[in-house]
Amino acid sequence: MRSVIYSLLLAAVSASPVPDIGDEVHLLQERQDNSSSSSLLPYSLPPNGPDVLRAADITTKQLTFTYGPPVGVGPYYPAGVLGTTYATMDGAIDDAELAAQVTIMRTDDAKARLDNAKYNGLKTLDDYTKLYDGEWQPSSQPTGQYDGILTNYTQDLLFSMERLSFNPYAVRRLNPPSDSIPFEVDNAIVAKVTGQTLESLFTSGRLFYVDHTVQGRLQKAQPPQYAPACDALFYICPSSGDLLPLAIRTGVSNNLVYTPEDTADDWLLAKIMFNVNDFFMAQFDHFSRNHFVAEIVHEAAVRTLSDSHPVLAILKRLLYGAFGIRPLALVILIRPGGDIDQYFGNSGAAAAQFANETYFNGSAGALRSNYFLTNLEKRGLINSPVGPALKSFPFYEDATPIYNAIRDFTGTFISSYYSSDAAISSDKELQAWIKEANGPAGVIDFPTIKTRSNLATLLAEIGRLVSFSHHAINLNQLITVASTLPFHPTALYKPIPTAKNVTDVASYLPPLDKALGFIGVAANFARPLLANTNRSLINMFDDPIMLHRMNSATRAANEKFKSAMSARSEVVRNRGFDANGLSQGMPFVWQALDPGVAAWSLTI
Ligand SMILES: *[C@@H]1O[C@H](CO)[C@@H](O)[C@H](O)[C@H]1NC(C)=O
Ligand SMILES: *[C@@H]1O[C@H](CO)[C@@H](O)[C@H](O)[C@H]1NC(C)=O
Ligand SMILES: *[C@@H]1O[C@H](CO)[C@@H](O)[C@H](O)[C@H]1NC(C)=O
Ligand SMILES: *[C@@H]1O[C@H](CO)[C@@H](O)[C@H](O)[C@H]1NC(C)=O
Ligand SMILES: *[C@@H]1O[C@H](CO)[C@@H](O)[C@H](O)[C@H]1NC(C)=O
Ligand SMILES: *[C@@H]1O[C@H](CO)[C@@H](O)[C@H](O)[C@H]1NC(C)=O
Ligand SMILES: [Fe+2]
Repeated sequence: MRSVIYSLLLAAVSASPVPDIGDEVHLLQERQDNSSSSSLLPYSLPPNGPDVLRAADITTKQLTFTYGPPVGVGPYYPAGVLGTTYATMDGAIDDAELAAQVTIMRTDDAKARLDNAKYNGLKTLDDYTKLYDGEWQPSSQPTGQYDGILTNYTQDLLFSMERLSFNPYAVRRLNPPSDSIPFEVDNAIVAKVTGQTLESLFTSGRLFYVDHTVQGRLQKAQPPQYAPACDALFYICPSSGDLLPLAIRTGVSNNLVYTPEDTADDWLLAKIMFNVNDFFMAQFDHFSRNHFVAEIVHEAAVRTLSDSHPVLAILKRLLYGAFGIRPLALVILIRPGGDIDQYFGNSGAAAAQFANETYFNGSAGALRSNYFLTNLEKRGLINSPVGPALKSFPFYEDATPIYNAIRDFTGTFISSYYSSDAAISSDKELQAWIKEANGPAGVIDFPTIKTRSNLATLLAEIGRLVSFSHHAINLNQLITVASTLPFHPTALYKPIPTAKNVTDVASYLPPLDKALGFIGVAANFARPLLANTNRSLINMFDDPIMLHRMNSATRAANEKFKSAMSARSEVVRNRGFDANGLSQGMPFVWQALDPGVAAWSLTI
């Protein structure tokens, strides 16, 4: 494993366009070449009677693809000869994609450093926006920084709508019967800001909450980096219907409570402090929410489904490159002295611990209760029994057409192989997978699979985990929006204030070397090279060899998926501001979920 990790790291660091693939990869490729005649046979469900060859193949896989210790944290990681081969091959895929991006990033980084005169020593907030002025192109292409994010960041509506777009997993509506008001805010201020009392906002289902206070007990990075542990209240405005921020509490030292009634500088700093915690949560929760959950479901499937099984073929497609990511994250981000220690307010060890906790306590690691709509419903963001509906919910708006198209595809696919629900229970490999997932694999909250619909939904949810659920948070989002300065630093560079009346917000922001350093990290996560290629979401199922082995109904479903996603790409790509300077009700133009740009799988 070490050699795998180091070859990945070295290739990334040396930006080698040709990945150093290990012997295991050559072996697997040879195995595949040798069996290429059988690997072109159609996929099929297991026969009702015995199939000795098929059973022997599965037995071999169980002996050679085993559950090893997690790499870093999370669920088991593939081990054994075959498990290691999978991991190595995936590593080579991720390594090649990362190396190609590192090459671009280096060119941009060199230019950005040469141009340092124009940043004016980063003395003012406006100076920070110059970091992107004609810089970091084409790293952040094809979109660049989203329109409005560098100009409208002081607006409260921008801050609140970020909770409903590029980190949609933190916010929840407070539910009057089961929740209580998390912290008090001066009544006179609440009345002035909202026209109501906190109590009436709460009881009418208009109060929302984001809780990052758990970060207070995590290990900190070294000074000069600092992190607060904020929580915040938001409300649906009785007059405008907008979701807006009401109060932010720092969670450390004097635990100050800030509101829009504070000075402009204090309130802006409060929102920036919140963003430090929110970015940390979004990124390290996504390890478990997306990667860990999808990986372990796939591991259980490899060990129980024959390579001739159509369901395994879809899972393999969706999990393209996925096992390569945990080793990379460990080496690049989490290791002592890695990117997190260098640029975040909490340490790399804290990030690992946080991801591990969100996985094992189920908040992100549970599969079924985090299904697309279930997750949004349980947080009161859609179909809420209390309070008004959200006026605009960009993540939901953009994710729904993608989810529906994936579910259409998996629905047709499953129905084309299983003629009835009874066929689900008579598929012994599928039943073995379910048992494995609930048993040795330890998948958390694996769904009940009794009907074709259950299975089609499970596959659609795996499709969600590896695509839009992930890309709303990660990859292109880092440089285009989620870590853009001055509003979204990954750490503060002065201790959290113990009193209000701050006048120099810029002095809390990263100095030039840290700012450029982290933009470079963010650029490495961008994947402009995948846009408009066979790696973009439009092509999620468009694997010619796989489709050749599928049936005609599945091939037709792929064509339908592609045209639905191409049409959706047009919509997102051509998005702009309306007459009020808003897009999807936000003062910035969010284009993360363009299926022509976002990838169809997890990548680094
Ligand atoms: C592939 O076939 C060649 C020639 O038949 C053989 O030498 C080699 O050992 C085979 N490789 C594997 C991995 O089975
Ligand atoms: C991750 O959490 C699990 C379950 O609580 C625990 O057993 C394991 O030791 C944790 N791993 C690390 C590296 O902390
Ligand atoms: C799970 O762990 C995360 C990280 O510590 C924490 O934020 C979250 O509140 C926990 N959730 C539950 C249900 O315990
Ligand atoms: C805030 O600063 C201003 C001038 O910078 C000063 O007049 C005022 O008294 C200060 N307020 C507090 C609460 O310290
Ligand atoms: C994408 O297309 C290229 C050729 O243009 C091909 O080499 C590559 O294997 C394809 N990638 C995938 C994942 O299908
Ligand atoms: C947001 O910024 C853009 C320019 O980047 C501007 O056209 C638009 O009007 C702004 N929206 C609001 C609500 O201020
Ligand atoms: Fe990721």
